[in-house]
Amino acid sequence: MLLNCIDVCKDYYRGKLSVPVLKNVNFQVESGEYIAIMGPSGSGKTTLMNLIGCLDVPTSGQCILNGEDLSRQSSRKMAIIRNRVLGFVFQQADLLPGLTALENVALPLLYRGTGKRERRERAAEMLRKVGLEDRMEFLPNQLSGGQCQRVAIARAIVGAPKLLLADEPTGALDSKSGEQVMRLFRQLNGEGITIIMITHSMEVAREADKILFIRDGVLTEAGEEGIQS
Ligand SMILES: Nc1ncnc2c1ncn2[C@@H]1O[C@H](COP(=O)(O)OP(=O)(O)O)[C@@H](O)[C@H]1O
Ligand SMILES: [Mg+2]
Repeated sequence: MLLNCIDVCKDYYRGKLSVPVLKNVNFQVESGEYIAIMGPSGSGKTTLMNLIGCLDVPTSGQCILNGEDLSRQSSRKMAIIRNRVLGFVFQQADLLPGLTALENVALPLLYRGTGKRERRERAAEMLRKVGLEDRMEFLPNQLSGGQCQRVAIARAIVGAPKLLLADEPTGALDSKSGEQVMRLFRQLNGEGITIIMITHSMEVAREADKILFIRDGVLTEAGEEGIQS
């Protein structure tokens, strides 16, 4: 099992008032699975992603990723897990504007101390994989939104993560670029990458092995009811 979330609760505090946002969330992800998470705005999707993504810790309960309990790690160890085990794709590509596509993709390898030549080779290979071999030396402002998102995907997978986390990766794209990005995720999953993706699109979610539905901080595996709503 790659990920096991056990009775995960997350409260936010407003002054002294605690607001429960995730309520006893339980789910497991096996290596190689493609999981979609759906739910209305404000239901706790990003909060859950932040816990799995080592950007925050649960108020109670455990997230065990790749055998390590994420609620018990130092911030230094969390940063290492983010760099070594996880890849992230968000709604916005958030590329560094002063770096070329190739340099942006190579960045996670720089953080882990890979040498320059290997960084460039690996980054170039990833850009070929996402169909941008002819855009390697372009700056972000010379690329379309869909191309920027494909650069962000290349950056997310350059370190060969065990788990790819995507929070509405097509949310800011036109439908054609969105379809291209979805095809890419399907291809990556076919190559063995485990994916957890937040999406608003039932069409996208149907491609996943499993759909999880979150409402008011309560997570359920979508049955027929969930699919129809
Ligand atoms: N840092 C925070 N402090 C207080 N409340 C927060 C914080 N982040 C999110 N929330 C609240 O938690 C709930 C879930 O937010 P979020 O996980 O971002 O939802 P979603 O991604 O499903 O739209 C919302 O009601 C939001 O207002
Ligand atoms: Mg969100």
